[in-house]
Amino acid sequence: MDIIGGPASQLLAGRVSKALESNLLVSEFKKFPDGELYTRILDDFAGDNVTIIQSTVTDSDFIALLQLIDACGEASRINVVIPYMGYARQDKQFKKGEPISARVMARAIKADYVFTVNIHTESILDYFDAKAVNLDATPVIGKYIKNMEFKDPLIVAPDDGAIALARNAAKDLGIDYDYLEKTRLSGESVTIQPKNINVNGRDVIIIDDIISTGGTIAETISLLRMQGAHEVFAACVHPVLSNNAILKLFKAGVKGIIATDTIDKGVGVVSVAPVIASAIGNV
Ligand code: R5P
Repeated sequence: MDIIGGPASQLLAGRVSKALESNLLVSEFKKFPDGELYTRILDDFAGDNVTIIQSTVTDSDFIALLQLIDACGEASRINVVIPYMGYARQDKQFKKGEPISARVMARAIKADYVFTVNIHTESILDYFDAKAVNLDATPVIGKYIKNMEFKDPLIVAPDDGAIALARNAAKDLGIDYDYLEKTRLSGESVTIQPKNINVNGRDVIIIDDIISTGGTIAETISLLRMQGAHEVFAACVHPVLSNNAILKLFKAGVKGIIATDTIDKGVGVVSVAPVIASAIGNV
């Protein structure tokens, strides 16, 4: 199998090709003076089974992915791995007149197989023409957490939408997990606290699929610290970390950030390469 790394996923593509001992193709990506993207696969490829790995963090990343798919047009099978799929949060029409952006993106991707990693909502997979499979990075995050030194650790989801992430990360590790629940006390006041477990004196690892602006996690860190948590860590699959997100997390008192390499950022301490390698090695 030939592996093609897109511009946003060079490190991950390298790691996947190492894990599978497969051929890694070098491509070039540059911009024309008017800003249009030029993409070219430089290495020869056999033209049979190719896997393109490219996160679509920016619009330009998405264009690069489409160009790479087109450049592989003669391959007998094209697998596309989108470790982080941008626009997935617009998975429905929230207001009249809006597009379903996740559907727009999915429909444009023509391949035999598509793999995503902890996509924001699994229902997006139905929008791909190809057979689409969503991979789960939370067990590798859990293993990483297991090997760190913590005081009585507890994994916490910032809301009920992230419970499955917390449960899967904690699974088989003997680590407790919980989620934050908002309870309305009156018209003006609400309490937000872990549903079942007292955090007092414990190290807490907050886990979410995406940290984007950092707002959700920064607020959660402040709440947990007010409730007596010892150290608070932030974990996520996709470190979008737009703008000043990292500063916000540290300002809120985060002890450390644990993220995967679906987006190539300095906080990516856990690799999803084994998860992707095992999935594409089996199709
Ligand atoms: C929302 O549905 C996601 O699961 C994350 O909670 C959200 O994307 C985090 O965004 P931010 O870091 O901007 O608060």
